[in-house]
Amino acid sequence: MFITLEGVDGAGKSSHLNWLETWFTSRGRQVRMTREPGGTAIGEQLREMVLHQPMHAETEALIMFAARREHIEQVIRPALAAGEVVISDRFTDASFAYQSGGRGLPEARLAVLEDWVHADLQPDLTFLFDLAPEIAAQRLSSARAPDRFEREQTDFHARVRAAYLRRAEQFSARIRIIDGSRSIDQVRLQLSTVLDAAMETKV
Ligand code: TMP
Repeated sequence: MFITLEGVDGAGKSSHLNWLETWFTSRGRQVRMTREPGGTAIGEQLREMVLHQPMHAETEALIMFAARREHIEQVIRPALAAGEVVISDRFTDASFAYQSGGRGLPEARLAVLEDWVHADLQPDLTFLFDLAPEIAAQRLSSARAPDRFEREQTDFHARVRAAYLRRAEQFSARIRIIDGSRSIDQVRLQLSTVLDAAMETKV
């Protein structure tokens, strides 16, 4: 089972990563936690570059997919083949939301890259943490300097959010919207309900 977490920066997905891992391990499943951009040695180097160095929007998109190509090859496919549950903090929906919605690249360009890099692989389930960008921005950690995406203005994040919501409509069977304004307990209840149903159909 391949699960991804998505949402605008500060929408709250990170607070639930460990909980999700435990949800599966307590049911006897092996879990592989990973993230994008990143998840491999090369991917983490590309992450450092793309989060901190100014670049053209197309370079940004190509780096995201280059990191993803490596991630799929080295981590995602082997783990799925071994029967593990793969939980990735972001995947291709983020490219459509940020590089198309946020930066304005045509979706068709990203669709070409998606087809190139993983024509035959999609997440089984995606949790989209949805939150108004104004509130999400307030929640961002002030413990470290913001990266290139976190430094973007509210209108950028509003476009990212809108693009995510359009994808959730387009892929309604896969993408579940989680209301990021709810309490941690309420969110976990919602996650459990979706996971229980997903496990019944999948395993
Ligand atoms: P994170 O803060 O959730 O770790 O994600 C890093 C940033 O990278 C986040 O601001 C979203 C951005 N991103 C993209 O712009 N495109 C992508 O394809 C991915 C995976 C992430």
